[in-house]
Formats: sequence, structure tokens, C-alpha cells
Amino acid sequence: MDVYHAIKTLRAVRQYTEQSIGDEIITRILEAGRWAGSSKNTQPWQFIVVRNGETLNRLAECGRFSSHLRQAAFAIIIVTESTPRADFDSGRAIENMMLAAWGDGVGACIASMHNETDAKKILGVPENLKLQQAIAFGYPRPNVTPTIEGKPLPEVLAAMGRKPLTEIIHQEKW
Ligand SMILES: Cc1cc2nc3c(=O)[nH]c(=O)nc-3n(C[C@H](O)[C@H](O)[C@H](O)COP(=O)(O)O)c2cc1C
Repeated sequence: MDVYHAIKTLRAVRQYTEQSIGDEIITRILEAGRWAGSSKNTQPWQFIVVRNGETLNRLAECGRFSSHLRQAAFAIIIVTESTPRADFDSGRAIENMMLAAWGDGVGACIASMHNETDAKKILGVPENLKLQQAIAFGYPRPNVTPTIEGKPLPEVLAAMGRKPLTEIIHQEKW
């Protein structure tokens, strides 16, 4: 898939089919995350791959908008040290992984772990490390109305689509 087309068509996918996803595709997604650039090339991340349904169900309890983890074929959880640029670096790795997945026809959506402490306990993550995000992956379920926690998207999200360029671009200065 053309990169620009992938960027423009990438959407959060929260409803998945029951089809499993092979190791080859999972490895391609992880490789895309591994190759993200990071501050001073620190590569501050570790990626936990979770395929186990019971663990996905338990993680789904750790966020306010994370029930899509229950249906996911697998999830990747990004863990870093609490260094100043690690949050930004994680974002780059996550976007790489989501785009790589999309290129292989796999949908994905972040699931914020608001109860980070419990999520870390479930996964055995050392206390001093930061659980950045969980990302759910799965083949998109066709012909469904997108929802978050069973609610229509406009009831939960700040906005639909994207702000037009005219609202966000400044030429030369603010
Ligand atoms: C930092 C971050 C946290 C997010 N957390 C969640 C979440 O907990 N649950 C969820 O369903 N979506 C989550 N999302 C996905 C956003 O809702 C999504 O990116 C946004 O609504 C745009 O969706 P779209 O690309 O389909 O238009 C998160 C996204 C980001 C960048």
C-alpha cells in the first residue's frame, strides 16, 4: 500500500473478526515498531505480545475505553523507562506498528491503561518501568457500525474526522 494512502485511510479499528493472525504478520508489525526513530536513538521500548484471551480480558478491565482488547487477535503493550522522551518515542513506534498492520489488512486501536498499576501486575512488568500503551490488533469486522464501549463514536470522541488545514496551519508565525 502506498504510504500516503495508508496514512490517509488509517482509522482506529475496534471491532475484529475471530480470525487469528499469523506469526509472520505479527513479526512484521513488531519490526515496524523496532525501526521507529527515537531520541538519540535510545530505543527506550520493550514490546509485550499478548495472544492469550484470558490476559486480554484482564487487560480490558484496566482502561475506561479498552473493551476492544477482548475481541483482539493479539495486543502489543509498549513498556519503557520513565525517561523524558520515552512517551514521544513510543508514539512513533505505535504509529509505525499501526501503519504496518494496516498495510497487511490488520486493524488496530490503542487501549489506554488508566489503571496502569493493575495492568503492570497482570503482565509482570517491573514497578519502575512505565506501561505506555496497549494496542489491540485484529482483522476488521466488516459491515459494523463503529462503537466505543458499545456507544456511537460521537458520544465519546471530542470530534469526528480531522480539523481542516485552515484551522491548524500558521504560515511563518502564530
Ligand atoms: C494517546 C491515545 C490514547 C488512546 N486511547 C484510546 C482508548 O483508550 N480507547 C480507544 O478506543 N481509543 C483510544 N485511542 C484512539 C483514538 O480514539 C483515535 O485515535 C481517535 O479517535 C481518531 O480515530 P480515527 O483515526 O478512527 O479517526 C487513543 C489514541 C491515542 C493517540
